[in-house]
Amino acid sequence: MYSVGIIILFLVCSSFSMDLPSYLSRCYLDDPKLSECVLRAFKEVKPYANNGIEEIGLPPLNPFVVPKFTVQQESSLANYTIKVTNYTIEGLNNHDIKEFRYDPETMTYRFKIEFDSLSMSVSVEGDSDVVHIPLKGNGFVRIAHSPVTAIFEIKGDMKRLRGIEYYSTEKAKVGLDMGDGNYNFEGLFNNNELLVRMTNEKLSANSAMVVEALTPAYEKFASMDVMRFMKTLTKIPYHRLFP
Ligand SMILES: *[C@@H]1O[C@H](CO)[C@@H](O)[C@H](O)[C@H]1NC(C)=O
Ligand SMILES: *[C@@H]1O[C@H](CO)[C@@H](O)[C@H](O)[C@H]1NC(C)=O
Repeated sequence: MYSVGIIILFLVCSSFSMDLPSYLSRCYLDDPKLSECVLRAFKEVKPYANNGIEEIGLPPLNPFVVPKFTVQQESSLANYTIKVTNYTIEGLNNHDIKEFRYDPETMTYRFKIEFDSLSMSVSVEGDSDVVHIPLKGNGFVRIAHSPVTAIFEIKGDMKRLRGIEYYSTEKAKVGLDMGDGNYNFEGLFNNNELLVRMTNEKLSANSAMVVEALTPAYEKFASMDVMRFMKTLTKIPYHRLFP
């Protein structure tokens, strides 16, 4: 989920950009059918997104890999600080955009994207407690979520720099419905197979609660990613982003 935001934004913003590969349509902000245009552009981008689109800096989507980061959460349902390595996510290419709106008055985008299923695999280091199920030591986990719905809300402002106007992001919010979740650990508890098996069974028996406990962390990461990506977009003058 780490990078869902970034990818979605690439797709949306790239459909406005002038530097698009010729096989993609351009959408114009004053188009009364802007939403339809963006929805169509999304569908056009899809077949190319697997291997990435160099012209717009879109990295390969399937799989998408993040080498390293740290993730932290402290609530009564999920309490952990873990180091994550080789975070790999599959299924980002299998998406469908359901709604898109841009409000030029408030410079806010809202859109909803559905994914059939997302599979992740990741190496973890550190102790956690998720819905009072302890997870100790280093290990590897495969995670599957299906279906996943993401609602994005990105609010911006106009910034002027040396006479040129740029879009500046004020706030990015991602709301996620992670659907059903399945978690399968290996290697925890110093490779104690019995404990690992019991833990996986407990996670499975409580999966709805586990998904609920972890969703805020997914949302936070997706939002941070959107912000990070939008920062790079501010380098592109507004009139080129939205011709
Ligand atoms: C989270 O875990 C730490 C370390 O075990 C503990 O000190 C803290 O009270 C826990 N926080 C919550 C909200 O349970
Ligand atoms: C991460 O992936 C690389 C390349 O596949 C591998 O060499 C490395 O051992 C992996 N690291 C962990 C902690 O799994």
